[in-house]
Amino acid sequence: MTTSAVEAQARTLSGYADASRLRQEHDRDWVLDHIPGEPATLVDLGSGIGQLLEAALHRFPSLELAVGLERSPHRITEAAARLKPHGGRVALAEADLNAPAPVPHRPDVVTMTSVLHWLYPTEDRVLAWVREHLAPGGHFLLTTYHPARDEHGLGGEDDIVRDALTALGVPRADVPALFAGGGVLPIATRTRTVEDLAALLERDFRTDGTWERDAVVTVADAAQYTRFHAATFGDYYSGLVTPARREEFFRAVGEAAARRQEERGRVSDMPVRLWRLTPRA
Ligand SMILES: C[S@@+](CC[C@H](N)C(=O)[O-])C[C@H]1O[C@@H](n2cnc3c(N)ncnc32)[C@H](O)[C@@H]1O
Repeated sequence: MTTSAVEAQARTLSGYADASRLRQEHDRDWVLDHIPGEPATLVDLGSGIGQLLEAALHRFPSLELAVGLERSPHRITEAAARLKPHGGRVALAEADLNAPAPVPHRPDVVTMTSVLHWLYPTEDRVLAWVREHLAPGGHFLLTTYHPARDEHGLGGEDDIVRDALTALGVPRADVPALFAGGGVLPIATRTRTVEDLAALLERDFRTDGTWERDAVVTVADAAQYTRFHAATFGDYYSGLVTPARREEFFRAVGEAAARRQEERGRVSDMPVRLWRLTPRA
């Protein structure tokens, strides 16, 4: 069986520059707006295709070094091409933030946007890493998403996937068990509540400020959402169906989103929080 274009996209997480316009890109300027002073070294964790680093290099002439740590080799390659004009001001490295290794840099700013939920339930490791690496007086800027969740811990993208699976014939009530059986932790469970996160962050950091915005996602059509889902969530959910039904699954996700758009005027909305943190001594 040949692999469909959308499955190939999900495997390599490609198309993110286009897809991230729907939701994640709004974090970038928001985060950069809250960086105090004139940073010399910035480390972006889960740096994706290097968009935040690129914006930071343009915005802060003071920036001598912009470092990106990222797990996906495909994304590192795309980031390297994007950041090539900045030459020696950039360092990119493959890294698994579930077990972050020491680096030689002492950043005065560390950023992490739309990533922390992927590290659940061992976020404490990356938080300790940030605390250990930040230069004295440095800041950690973090964005976290907070979808509402139901009694099974599903919400946000899980809801859209639940609609898609239902359209493919899975009884609605069976979806939480299907997630559990397939080892798919609902994203709405991975994204801890604000209270939970505050307690976790407090161990390593003092909160210097928090801000909130509403992330509203709207789409022009089903195909656009299918691409967004594949570029953002990759094959995280698609393993819930047999390989023969994966292409159909991605299409059903797009159609579920388009139905929501028609009924509610938006696919989804959820609060996003920006935390500015300083390490505890
Ligand atoms: C939603 S994207 C966000 C990318 C970028 N920070 C942004 O705001 O557009 C999540 C990123 O985290 C990366 N990621 C997820 N788990 C990771 C891990 N364990 N270690 C390093 N990077 C990880 C993914 O590969 C992906 O590039």
